[in-house]
Amino acid sequence: MDTDSRARFGDYQNEIYLAGLSGVLPAMPMNFAELEARAQAALPPSVLSYVAGGAGDEFTQRANVTAFERYGLVPRMMVGAARRDLSVDLFGLKLPSPLFMAPVGVIGLCAQDGHGDLATARAAARSGVPMVASTLTVDPMEQVAAEFGDTPGFFQLYTPTDRALAQSLVHRAEAAGFKGIVITLDTWITGWRPRDLGASNFPQLRGHALANYTSDPVFRARLAKAPEEDVSATVLEWIGLFGNPLTWDDLPWLRSLTDLPIILKGLCAPEDVRRAKDGGVDAVYCSNHGGRQANGGLPALEALPGVVEAADGLPVLFDSGVRTGADVVKALALGATAVGVGRPYAYGLAVGGVDGIVHVLRSLLAEADLIMAVDGYPTLADLRAEGAIRRI
Ligand SMILES: Cc1cc2nc3c(=O)[nH]c(=O)nc-3n(C[C@H](O)[C@H](O)[C@H](O)COP(=O)(O)O)c2cc1C
Repeated sequence: MDTDSRARFGDYQNEIYLAGLSGVLPAMPMNFAELEARAQAALPPSVLSYVAGGAGDEFTQRANVTAFERYGLVPRMMVGAARRDLSVDLFGLKLPSPLFMAPVGVIGLCAQDGHGDLATARAAARSGVPMVASTLTVDPMEQVAAEFGDTPGFFQLYTPTDRALAQSLVHRAEAAGFKGIVITLDTWITGWRPRDLGASNFPQLRGHALANYTSDPVFRARLAKAPEEDVSATVLEWIGLFGNPLTWDDLPWLRSLTDLPIILKGLCAPEDVRRAKDGGVDAVYCSNHGGRQANGGLPALEALPGVVEAADGLPVLFDSGVRTGADVVKALALGATAVGVGRPYAYGLAVGGVDGIVHVLRSLLAEADLIMAVDGYPTLADLRAEGAIRRI
């Protein structure tokens, strides 16, 4: 896909209709409900419960999705929005669109061949949509980054309690060519997840998706035996250092780890955003982890306007509940600089491999682009202007 065709995202519908003229129907679902149903059938039960499940009775997870129904774009006519410009400039990187793939640990296990991190990176290369690679991958970050092609990628850090290990992971990410570090703050401890508890299943405790640790010299030096020789001891060591209950006093240290852009993920309170900004971060990332962590009730989308205001010009990444191109447009209109897709691309991978992810991303972008065309918003600045979106 060249840059120009990538920018005409809405043309994806022409491809699909034209193929239909010669009797070829889309192999992939065209809506989220069907995608989810197909993924449910494709994934092993233990992976499905981990991906589809959330915290508590999953109220927050559902609220994240339904929150989008409370907003509507105001249609504008006679704008002549024949070409739309969805490109964004993020940390000096010119991206063809504001869409990115949120970090999904164990995405590796969602692929038929067990190498979903590599598949996701290949989808990023093909679509131009950046991947935020989780700390929890099946393949080491260097191998993931090697698949990015020309598309920039970001590394998501779960800050371990061992500072030397944190430093090693970040330095490896720099050396591998990642363009920014997303530090996730809401998962130093795992939330109460009844689906996983019911199946007594937590993939990492079975030794899955720990490649970034087992390939790390600092982590390996902590083990008496090589990870391959003693999986139980490796997992125990990992449990001991995975979660770091960070405080704002740790921010100067985090900032000192790298000159790459630092993005703090999980911020929903304006006061936290101001502290992050004061601490010198390059962006904030408004998210409630897709309702997987705390079943608190507040949809991430409701927190977004307050975060944008407090960020006061600092880029704001957003995820949680994005299922359609309309959702992408609404998050942008509420001030997000870039919008993350989570579960939908995991399901795309489960159903159709790299092609499946690319289809999900192209569909989201096509719908967003066509809404901007129909409703008369040719640029993201137009979308963000006063009066573009209303609460219903
Ligand atoms: C299976 C799964 C694993 C996830 N793993 C991570 C992770 O490793 N790091 C992280 O920061 N967020 C992780 N997330 C949260 C996502 O980055 C994102 O915030 C969330 O998926 C957004 O919610 P949605 O998918 O319902 O839209 C994970 C989400 C899912 C569904």
